[in-house]
Amino acid sequence: MKKITLSYLAAITVVTTACSTVSEPQEKTLKDLFPDYTLGAAINVRQSSGEDQVSDSIVLRHFNSIVPEDCMKHENIHPGKDQYYWDEADKFVQFGVDNGMQVIGHCLVWHSQQAPWLFVGDDGQQVTADELKARMKDHITTVVTRYKGKITGWDVVNEAIVEDGSYRNSLWYQILGEEFIPLAFQYAHEADPDLELYYNDYGMNVPGRREGVVRLIRQLKERGCRIDAVGLQSHMGMNRPDWDDFEASIQAYIAEGVDVQFTEVDMSALPSVTQGANIADTEEYRESLNPYKDALPDSVSVEWNARMTKFFEIVDKYKDHVKRVTAWGVTDRDSWKNDWPIKGRTDYCLWFDRNNQLKPFLQEKLDQAK
Ligand code: GLA
Repeated sequence: MKKITLSYLAAITVVTTACSTVSEPQEKTLKDLFPDYTLGAAINVRQSSGEDQVSDSIVLRHFNSIVPEDCMKHENIHPGKDQYYWDEADKFVQFGVDNGMQVIGHCLVWHSQQAPWLFVGDDGQQVTADELKARMKDHITTVVTRYKGKITGWDVVNEAIVEDGSYRNSLWYQILGEEFIPLAFQYAHEADPDLELYYNDYGMNVPGRREGVVRLIRQLKERGCRIDAVGLQSHMGMNRPDWDDFEASIQAYIAEGVDVQFTEVDMSALPSVTQGANIADTEEYRESLNPYKDALPDSVSVEWNARMTKFFEIVDKYKDHVKRVTAWGVTDRDSWKNDWPIKGRTDYCLWFDRNNQLKPFLQEKLDQAK
């Protein structure tokens, strides 16, 4: 009797399991909506270490690519000349590997968030060109080698071209001249020949910067350097970028034979006080510049959703050349835009709101895809 009951139960279980497999199609998630490229999120250390489980569940469900918000930047990963700090970066990479996600490295050479020792020689004076080259090579080789085979591609150089197309007058440029960019690409390639290599910048719609980046791509190619894609950061606002200029830049980069990716996507809903995304450009807090402390008015939300829809329409137009679209953060709660360029504002710039709900333009797409 007992035996019969058990097999009966087993039979019911099999039928139930089989039925639920057949009758309940997997619910679609964001990444299913964009099958032509990977969909990424920049994650912070609380997320990569599993402390922010709410955001983690969003990341794991909806995204298939991650990039670290801060933990791989020079000042974090290489705080002293002979001191690397791997804990956070290792956790970040492991989070991606364990969950079968594409892992992107950010960033090897940048004018910002560098550890102070980097440009100071052992004699206390500004470092010499030869020594800086050696330090750059050590940094790139060590970091890239550590994550070889786990990271798909690195932002090798970040934000080196300014609005008029000339080189940013960073210490990298002052000490090494324009040579610092091909050198960085060369060192990264030597450390891992399979790695994808990217140049990444903000304000890519600006015609002068577009021309400067095109010149840079040509220069890298002439030198025989590998460059797979140009990253358009895409920190947007309610009145920028100009879409025609944005598209013209996408077309210009693709015409040079590289792919494009949208690497730091967000769109501030607040009054704009700066056109770029240079983190050194900050402003004093004023109440008038923080108008939506409690909630985003419907009229602004509708406009924001329409602009994000337009952004994805443009991306989709070039999807054969788009590698990745990455949001710079998971929910509005943790976006850097709440504190930049003005500290202490309430912004609404990402795809998930403060209650972890998808913004309407994406929720509607998901509902339609069901
Ligand atoms: C730039 C950098 C990013 C990040 C943002 C602001 O766009 O590339 O790493 O620092 O600024 O958070």
